[in-house]
Formats: sequence, C-alpha cells, structure tokens
Amino acid sequence: MVKKYDAIVIGGGVMGGSTAFQLSKKGYKVLVLEKDQLGGKASSAAAGMIGAQVELDPDSPMFHLACKSRKQFPELAVEIKDLTGIDIGFRKNGMLKIAFSNEERGKFLKIIESQQHLGEQVDWLTPEEVIKKEPLLSSSCNGAMYIEGGGQVSAPDFTMGLLKAAAALGTDSREYCEVKGFLREGNRVIGVSTNEGDFYSHSVVVTAGAWTTQLIQGSGLDLKGYPVKGESFSVLTNKPLLTHTIFSSSCYIVPKTSGRLIIGATVKPYSFSRSVSVEGITQLMEDAKFILPAIKEAEWEEAWAGTRPQSLDGLPYLGEHPEWSHLFIANGHFRNGILLSPITGMIMTDLIEGKKTITDVESFRIDRLTRQVK
Ligand code: FAD
Ligand code: GLY
Repeated sequence: MVKKYDAIVIGGGVMGGSTAFQLSKKGYKVLVLEKDQLGGKASSAAAGMIGAQVELDPDSPMFHLACKSRKQFPELAVEIKDLTGIDIGFRKNGMLKIAFSNEERGKFLKIIESQQHLGEQVDWLTPEEVIKKEPLLSSSCNGAMYIEGGGQVSAPDFTMGLLKAAAALGTDSREYCEVKGFLREGNRVIGVSTNEGDFYSHSVVVTAGAWTTQLIQGSGLDLKGYPVKGESFSVLTNKPLLTHTIFSSSCYIVPKTSGRLIIGATVKPYSFSRSVSVEGITQLMEDAKFILPAIKEAEWEEAWAGTRPQSLDGLPYLGEHPEWSHLFIANGHFRNGILLSPITGMIMTDLIEGKKTITDVESFRIDRLTRQVK
C-alpha cells in the first residue's frame, strides 16, 4: 500500500526544519525530502544573528515579522533541548551597529527615535560609551546603535535541532532525495516525484531555499527569486575579544563561545558558487582588522560560502500557489532566514490548516509581483 503523508516538506534547511517541527507538534505526519545532506546549505553557513534592527528597514513589513519571530527563540531553545538534547546556543548578547560617518550617525539616530516609539530597546551610544562596552574596538568609530535585545544562535545547531526535534515527534526524512516535479489531480497537488520514486501527501511545502525558483518553474509560476552568495570565515582567540555582536556597513563580527569569532559576509548576487575567493576573504579581513585591530593576533579557523535565497522586491514569499491548491511556498528570506524561521514555520502550519495566520501575510503573497491588477 502507498504510504500517504499529511505534508511533504521539500528542503531540509532551517525553513524546512521549522515547518516540519511546527506541523509535527500538531500531530501531523511529515516527510522532509532533502537533495543533499540535511542542514548543509545556507542554513549552516549563517552567522546566527537574531537582529531585527541590523539588516532590516524598520518601515518594511518584514521588520514586524522579524520582531514576532524573535520572540519565539527562548521557548524554542527549551523545546529543542528537551526533545533532542541539542543546545542551539541561544544568547541575548546584544548588538552594536557601528556608525563611522556623520551620515550613518544621522540615519541611526532617526531609526532609534522611531524604534523607541515602537517600544524597542534601542539606544544611541557615544564613541566613549561604545569603547566602555567594547574596549578593543577601533577608536575611529563615530558612535553606535545599541540593540540590547539582539542575540544569536548557532545556526547549524539550530537547524539540526529543529529537524531532529521534528524527527523526535514522528517526522520522517530522506537525504539525497531530490524532488523533480509535482504530482497532481487536476489543479490539486497530491505529492512529488523524486529520484527515489513518487511520494504522496495531503499538502506539499516548498522550502528549497535558493533552488525554489527553479523547482517551482515547473508549475508555470515565475517566482522572481535569485541566489546571493555569501562568504564568511572564523578565527579563534585565547581570550574573548568581544562580548557583543558588532555590525557595520562593511562586515559583522559575531562572538561565539570560547573565543571563536565569525566574520561575514560577502554579498554576490546571481551566484550559486560555494567556492571561497581570496578577494572575498581578504576584503572581510581588512574590514574586520579596521573595526577590531586586536583580531590580527587571532588564529585562523576556516572559511565557507552559502547561497541566500532573495526575492525581487526583498520580501519573503509565504503562501499557497495561486493556481495549484495544496502547494505552499516559504522562500526568499535572504539575509534573515535564521531570524525569520520560527514565525515562518508557524505561518506555513496555519496556512496548511486553513486557519487565519498568526500574523498578516498579505505583503508576502506568492503572486504579488506577477498578479495582473484589474
Ligand atoms: P537552505 O538552508 O539553503 O535550505 C534549502 C534546502 O533545500 C537545501 O538543503 C537544498 O539542498 C534543498 N533543496 C533544494 N532543492 C531541492 C529539491 N529539488 N529537492 C530536495 N531538496 C532540495 N540569516 C539570519 O537570520 N542571521 C544570520 O546571521 C545570517 N547569516 C548568514 C550568513 C551567510 C554567509 C549566509 C549565506 C546566510 C546568512 N543568513 C542569516 C541567511 C540564512 O542563512 C538564510 O536566509 C536561510 O538559511 C535560508 O533557509 P532555507 O531553508 O530557505 O534555505
Ligand atoms: N545576515 C547575515 C548575512 O546574510 O550575511
């Protein structure tokens, strides 16, 4: 007899893990299909910053989505630890978004004012106050936006934690199983075809990261998404050089445990390449040395690259396919997929259940860039 799942999730990254976890918590039988290794792509390349303020425009609907998502981390950390024993490395170590020019300073001051009205814990620090918080930072900084509530996780542990927590609740997964197309009855999707045969389900969720646009093309939908390569590296230090995550327009430095620092990241649109270039790493090193001169003494650890999924208008796609029912898509989270993954899993579960979503998703409609306005 053919086994039928409640939901098939295509892609074993952080979005697939979060969606599978939320669905399995509700008792649904889920199958995650991953064409390579679980958690091996963008989600394990990420620095793990949970910082709504550092990379998002506060006027964007994504900012509000990010604030709601950020709130889920403390509970998720406990749930994952209880179900799997994995420590996702969740810490609220705070962030400093450094201004070097007067222009940046003016821009940050405006953002701080509007953020404070929204009740966010964001403050301006003078150069002297910055050095008090982080004595090893370059004295050439012109002040900083201090985001007390900003934090981090270990992105690879968080991603595998979600996938293993889903497995502990009954989710099946298959590695090296590539989805090639969708099975249909009329305009209703009933499963997927793969290199290992056909699998059937009530619903299908595409969380295939930067490969989603290509996969979904087979459904006649042009999702208007593209890959953006990002390179990073890490170093080890005997004594921790930083307490807070440092973010600047040129690079970021994220202090992990035991003196490890992650420095990222380059932004190269339209590239699926996972090679690490001398040019990319050299530039990041120069920028990091300028911000944190003491990093010169650090020991080299490793470098890597990942592929971020970006959409044409910078907003994620969250919703059901406009023409094929029971086919859902969560994609385009670009530089904030780790931060946005908890809320994304919850929204996809609401959509599959046909419920009102936990937060309004109109701005993230799948067909917003292709819809004909009548
Ligand atoms: P992925 O993790 O790429 O997962 C998609 C999966 O789908 C892959 O495993 C792929 O193999 C699989 N797949 C694709 N096609 C198929 C198919 N046909 N069949 C089966 N499987 C398929 N975000 C933050 O919030 N904070 C950060 O600090 C941060 N830092 C980053 C640093 C770097 C260098 C990079 C590159 C990204 C960073 N991001 C960060 C962004 C974040 O990593 C991404 O937005 C997020 O990981 C995207 O998750 P995903 O599950 O959509 O994609
Ligand atoms: N959010 C960090 C990055 O994408 O590089």
